[in-house]
Amino acid sequence: MENSIEEIEAEALQELAAAAGKDEIQELSVTYLGRKGKLTRFLRNISNLPPDKRPDAGKSANILKKRLEEAFKSAFEKMDLAEAHRIEAIDVSLPGRPVPLGTLHPITQIIREICAIFQKLGFDIAEGPEVESDYYNFEALNIPKNHPARDMQDTFYVSENIVLRTHTSPLQVRMMEKQKPPVRIVAPGKVYRCDSDITHTPMFHQVEGLLVDQDISFGDLKGVLTAFVQQIFDEQTSLRFRPSFFPFTEPSAEVDILCVMCRGKGCRVCSQTGWLEVLGSGMVHPAVFENVGYDISRYTGFAFGMGVERITMLKYGIDDIRKFFENDYRFLKQF
Ligand code: FA5
Ligand code: MG
Repeated sequence: MENSIEEIEAEALQELAAAAGKDEIQELSVTYLGRKGKLTRFLRNISNLPPDKRPDAGKSANILKKRLEEAFKSAFEKMDLAEAHRIEAIDVSLPGRPVPLGTLHPITQIIREICAIFQKLGFDIAEGPEVESDYYNFEALNIPKNHPARDMQDTFYVSENIVLRTHTSPLQVRMMEKQKPPVRIVAPGKVYRCDSDITHTPMFHQVEGLLVDQDISFGDLKGVLTAFVQQIFDEQTSLRFRPSFFPFTEPSAEVDILCVMCRGKGCRVCSQTGWLEVLGSGMVHPAVFENVGYDISRYTGFAFGMGVERITMLKYGIDDIRKFFENDYRFLKQF
C-alpha cells in the first residue's frame, strides 16, 4: 500500500484549494478518481490487505470517494459563478463610449445661413410645392406656352400641365396672391432641370427673394444683393452685375462672383471666364403684377433667385457640384 487514506485526502484537498481554474479541477478529479487515479488504486488494493483490515479500509475509502466527488463538483460550480460575475460586472465609473455626431449637409447649412442674413434684413421665409402647375412655373411669370424663353430651362414634365418646378420663382406669384404689399420674402427649396455637368445637377437648390413696396428701385436691388454677398462671403468679394434677360423681370441682371478656384484667371469651373454666375435678378415685370392684381402705378419691386450649390462651391472652394450628392462620408464630414 503506497498511501494511507488520510494522506490521499489531505493531498487531494490541498491541491484542490490551489487549483486555479476549471481545467485544473478536471485534471485533479482524474488524478484521484479516474480509472488509474490514486483513490481508485487504493480501492483496488484493498483485496491485498489482511482480511480484518478490509472492511474499515473499504468503508473509509468509499466515504472519501463521495467526499472528493462533492468537493470537485462544488469547486467547479464556484468557478462558474465567479466567471459569471466577471462577465456581468459593470464598472459604472468607466467613461461612456463616444457616439459619433452627424452634421447638417453643407447645402442645408448654407440655406440656413442665407435665410438668416435675409431675416436680419427684414425678410420672411416662405415655402411652396416642388411639383408645380405650368401656370405658376411659367404662365403667371410671363412665359406663355410655346414662348422661346421656356427653352432657357430644360423642364421635367409630370403631365401636360404639371412640372417639377424649374426654379423657385413660382413662390413670387403664390406669395403675392396671398398678401398685399409690402412683401418681403425669401423662399428656399429644391428645383429640377434636365441638366448635368460640373456646375449643373438635375436637382439643385435655389433661394428666391421678392421685395415689393412703393418706390423700390434697381438701386435697392443692388444694395440688398451686395450686402448679402459681402455677408455670406466677405467684404472683399468681387461681384459684378451683368445685364441679362428674364421674362418676369425688366430690367434684369445676373450676378457673378469672382471664381475662387482660379482667382479670376480662368479654369474649368468658371469655363475660363474667371466668374461664376450665382443668381438671376431684376425689377418685377408689370405683367407679373397684373397677373396677381397688384396696382402697377403704385408698386414696384425686385426679385432674385440664387443657386445655393454655386454659393457653397465658392464659399468652400469645391470644384465639382456633383460632390454634394454623392454622399461620400469623407467629403461630408469636412463641414
Ligand atoms: C432662374 O432660375 C430665375 N428664376 C432667377 C430669377 C429669379 C431671375 C427672380 C429674376 C428674378 P437661372 O436659370 O439663371 O435663373 O438660375 C438661377 C441660378 O441657379 C443660377 O445663377 C445658378 O446659380 C443656379 N443654377 C441654374 N441651373 C443650375 C443647375 N443645373 N445646377 C446648379 N445650379 C444651377
Ligand atoms: Mg442664369
